[in-house]
Amino acid sequence: MPFRRFLDVALYDVDHGFYRSGGQAGRRGDFLTSPEVGPLFGHVVARALDAEWDRLGQPDPFTVVDAGAGPGTLARAVLAARPRCAEVMDYVAVESSAAQRESHPAGVRSQAELPETMIGVVLANELLDNLPFVPVRHHNGEWEQAVVDAKDEELVLGWHLLDEVPAIDPVVGQAVYQPAAAAWLRQATEIVERGRVIVIDYCRWQSTDVEIRTYAQHGRAGSPLEHIGLKDITVDVDLSQLEAVMPASSIRSQADWLASHGIDELVEEGRRVWEASASVGDLAALRMRSRIREAEALLDPEGLGGFTVAEWVIS
Ligand SMILES: C[S@@+](CC[C@H](N)C(=O)[O-])C[C@H]1O[C@@H](n2cnc3c(N)ncnc32)[C@H](O)[C@@H]1O
Repeated sequence: MPFRRFLDVALYDVDHGFYRSGGQAGRRGDFLTSPEVGPLFGHVVARALDAEWDRLGQPDPFTVVDAGAGPGTLARAVLAARPRCAEVMDYVAVESSAAQRESHPAGVRSQAELPETMIGVVLANELLDNLPFVPVRHHNGEWEQAVVDAKDEELVLGWHLLDEVPAIDPVVGQAVYQPAAAAWLRQATEIVERGRVIVIDYCRWQSTDVEIRTYAQHGRAGSPLEHIGLKDITVDVDLSQLEAVMPASSIRSQADWLASHGIDELVEEGRRVWEASASVGDLAALRMRSRIREAEALLDPEGLGGFTVAEWVIS
């Protein structure tokens, strides 16, 4: 077998006998994303959208791009929260998977590509960790990329010269090159005439801390080159490679970002409504109670609360 790029092999789909696209990387199926925890996350996002709409002087239309929208769970929650900007909001759910696009709700524009130009917000929740990446090392003064070869029916890792220079400090030695994430950010910051790009993901500040992980059946799953196609593969997003595209305007934890957009107020409102109508126990009251549990998951510093929110303001 001729050598193949590391990720092509790691993403081989044994059931279907083809190489899955980079879009299948990530940790779906084994953990919930923030929008999947419940509607509270989308409610806070709706507040953040209103804040940006106000900052921009309430433009009409106000475009919101939900990049890597999955089945549209965040879109549903944002629409249900009825932000003030909804009257002029053009919600574009950008999703590469046609099957996922079929599930997008009414009231959103569903498409596979980013729009060409816009005023508003591009938000990517857990998209960048899904994009293809390349393990690299700086060796004898040159950058090499990991490749996979077959030897005696076993897959072995080797190194081939990389024909580009990654935006990574050579002193790190071994790293994970993320050209697709950088290209996505470049495109997103170019299409926004005024507004902001928000990336929410599991990130690391330094290339040396970035880790490739595999998951299966709700747990870690060892080497990506064993049991190929039966596990999800994912990588921390390397903030230093994103900042080489454009320095971020702000970088903070998801817990801090949600707090700055009023998650505590929404939880308190939920608690009050629940206490006032607990005896009735109707669906609306139960939804309000569920905000308390949702907030715990979204703010957990060891879980979703520890994710990073990086923002690029384009004025
Ligand atoms: C981990 S899911 C996150 C879904 C959603 N944002 C959420 O938080 O629940 C990543 C999604 O991004 C999609 N995706 C991957 N690469 C993409 C690309 N280049 N453009 C648009 N969508 C992409 C995948 O198909 C998948 O639905």
